[in-house]
Amino acid sequence: MAFPSAWLNELFAKNEIVSVISSYVDLKPKGRKLWACCPLHGEKTPSFSVSPDKQLFYCFGCHAGGTVVQFIMDMERLTFPEAVKYLADRVGMEMPNEVNDEDLRKIREHKNRLYEANKLAARYYFDCLMDPERGKPGREYAAKRGLSSEIITRFGIGYAPEGWNNLKDYLTEKGFKLNELLDAGLLVKNENKNSIYDAYRGRMIFPILGINGQVLGFGARVLNDDKPKYINTGDTPIYNKRKNLYGLNLHKNEKLSDLIMTEGYMDVIGLYKAGVTNAVASLGTALTQQQAGLLKRYVDLVYIAYDGDAAGQNATVRGLDILKSEGLDVRVITFPDNLDPDEYVQIYGKEGFDRLKENAFTLNEFKIRAMAKEFDLNNENERERFAIQACSFVAGLQPIEQKRYYKVISEMTGYPLEALIEQGKKDGGIAYSANQTVKNYYGIRRKSDAKDDSRFVTERTLIAACARSRDAIRIVKENKAEELIRNEALKSFLKALIADEHLSITNYIGELEQKDAETVSTLLQDENALQNPERTAADCIKKLKDENEKASMEELQKRLLQPDLSKAEREELLELINRKFKSRK
Ligand code: UTP
Ligand code: MN
Repeated sequence: MAFPSAWLNELFAKNEIVSVISSYVDLKPKGRKLWACCPLHGEKTPSFSVSPDKQLFYCFGCHAGGTVVQFIMDMERLTFPEAVKYLADRVGMEMPNEVNDEDLRKIREHKNRLYEANKLAARYYFDCLMDPERGKPGREYAAKRGLSSEIITRFGIGYAPEGWNNLKDYLTEKGFKLNELLDAGLLVKNENKNSIYDAYRGRMIFPILGINGQVLGFGARVLNDDKPKYINTGDTPIYNKRKNLYGLNLHKNEKLSDLIMTEGYMDVIGLYKAGVTNAVASLGTALTQQQAGLLKRYVDLVYIAYDGDAAGQNATVRGLDILKSEGLDVRVITFPDNLDPDEYVQIYGKEGFDRLKENAFTLNEFKIRAMAKEFDLNNENERERFAIQACSFVAGLQPIEQKRYYKVISEMTGYPLEALIEQGKKDGGIAYSANQTVKNYYGIRRKSDAKDDSRFVTERTLIAACARSRDAIRIVKENKAEELIRNEALKSFLKALIADEHLSITNYIGELEQKDAETVSTLLQDENALQNPERTAADCIKKLKDENEKASMEELQKRLLQPDLSKAEREELLELINRKFKSRK
């Protein structure tokens, strides 16, 4: 986003750097500068300096430095436009695009009402939990799960009592309109009965906070084994689950070495209780690009600690590359016996968890182990095939990291290290990349037959060419080839590429559902391999057209074999087939 320079100048003038930074640290004058211990990294002697003349800061320890906007970006973990907005709010300036814009002003006011309603609701639920009478079922449940009052306060946990109108009555009395409460997701509407009532009843309440402490939404858990176990705030004007992480708000001004990515509310809370305070949760959904970007503002290293069950493990596989593509270092913690992190620390404590963390798999080791799941390693033939494929994968890695992964394969299969290294050298990655056309990145077979696979690969290569070159797109347009694409994710991506010459691919992927994001990300790996995208595009289009042609021919011939065909119909069909056959030559 570009801001008008006159407007930015006013922003800088009003947000004098010394006054802004002074609200975070105590600045002491020395020479032409002011000094403090750096608030951005831990230190005992001051190496953080602010220059009032230049309106800049610089830390000689961690080398952070820049304007007041840069400082707010670092300190509050905000992007550039967010930091600008933060400073504008600080001094009561309208954002440039909002000046004189009545609609925007209305939207913002509406959002503020929703934030306010959520805040009051969170307090209300908390008070209910603490109420000697009404809170009883909730407190019993909290006790059962070992939630101390300290933890309850820290996470703002509450209880929504049974009954249809508790929160509705409370908040309408405070002046909130029904449509505001519906928009916030606090009330729901039954269209049939035309009635409006509390969204959460007889459930524990877990408020979901934004990184600046606003209450964005809620998760609500039943006290027994009823289904659904949790209900969560859906998309609202102020909340999108794909763009937030549960628990991240606790770490705003902290220096963290890593974050632990879990699946659920109770994993974050259970780990916290055990002394592992740096866990966050993606709340049961697949990790998104936006969430990965959020993590990147805090740390460079993320441990994935999903549940030990199959669903959790699959989610792990999918989350890995998303994190990696944000430039994060990734490790994987796996839990035994299908335990989730919460259950695990209850049995083995923080020490047990720290041990698992120390022994966490690197990305590559995790991939090798995921690959092995497809083979029965007790069977000699399968063990051999696994070793060949895994060596091929390792052969494609950086030379200095290869040895440790050959060791992993050696441990898994019992083959001597030298033989495996030899195997990798000989193969040089060929067996593995050949495998990738029918198997996905982790050697896990997609649920589709080989024919679909081959068509999919052609379609994918075509779109990869388009992602690389506008000329390829021109060829697609000339041939009306959009219609040839059957895979929906690929088709939508192609349409987006055609529509927007400057499409931000990261943003595009960020908006996709997990499965589609995976399809498009994989495609971008293909893109790099293309030498001549225009030729590739033309080739792929021809291949797809030929395939369609062949399929429709087969279809006609199949119809010809139908027993109840009249003579006229048969002749018509034959005529069609003949014509098609001729036009092909
Ligand atoms: P889990 O079923 O693993 O729940 O779902 P959990 O976190 O272990 O919760 P407890 O320990 O049984 O209380 C993981 C996450 O998936 C989402 C929630 O965010 C949950 O924390 N989920 C699960 C739902 O949104 N709805 C559901 O019905 C179930
Ligand atoms: Mn659990």
